[in-house]
Amino acid sequence: MTLKFIIMSDLHLVPEGTTSITLDTGARLERAVEAVLARHADADFCILAGDLADHGEAAAYERLKTIIARLPIPVHITLGNHDNRPVFLDVFGADFAATQTGKIDKIIDAEGYRIILLDSAEPGRVDGVLEAVQIDWLRARLAEAMDRPVIVVLHHNANALHIHADTIRLLEPDAFIEALKTHPDIRQIIAGHVHLTSTAMWRGLPFTTLAGGHYSVDFAVDQPQAPMRHISGPGQMAVVVGTPDRTTVLFDDFIDGNPDITWPPH
Ligand SMILES: [Fe+2]
Repeated sequence: MTLKFIIMSDLHLVPEGTTSITLDTGARLERAVEAVLARHADADFCILAGDLADHGEAAAYERLKTIIARLPIPVHITLGNHDNRPVFLDVFGADFAATQTGKIDKIIDAEGYRIILLDSAEPGRVDGVLEAVQIDWLRARLAEAMDRPVIVVLHHNANALHIHADTIRLLEPDAFIEALKTHPDIRQIIAGHVHLTSTAMWRGLPFTTLAGGHYSVDFAVDQPQAPMRHISGPGQMAVVVGTPDRTTVLFDDFIDGNPDITWPPH
């Protein structure tokens, strides 16, 4: 019994023929889909963890819908600060309708695990918000799964990373942390948003961020005034593998990542 799922984040799709910070994000997502087809078609499902569209336009969501239709596995979606919830729901329809929380939160039960998606996007804000109703919903979904390991996926990172973007992480994470602490076996809390790969232990919980599909950034530890460089790669997805006693997050750099070395030279 092995769980395997993919997380893609920060796709920042734009309408066809346009680019975002010089990058053709549609072409990058096509590369991600090809990587899944080539290497991860055996995954149980794929999660898109927000910032799906760069400016929340219907044309970008239509393009997303077309590209991910090629994925051979189910796709679960939540939103990020660049997304527009009503426009997204207009394009994607009832299958992705908001839950009782009014946001796009979801549970997935697979291979002995519970995976919880939380929608941390809040209209008009760049930082993330989990409403009180979502925290109540989270507590209830955790209470149902006390006998199973849990993985939480959301767009905004809750933990600070000593980087410039720490000011736009999940706002007021205390209620979130306290809710998570009601469960004895939280295996990972995985986010995008920062366009940077990181792992951390914070308040006794394991946090991970993936670089995602758009540009990446460099970092200057604890120098919030240092200008942040936008760098082009990698295009990165996370591959989460779970057995009863072990949860592993691997990273597949589907762009600029690990080309074969021909050796010996000839
Ligand atoms: Fe983003």
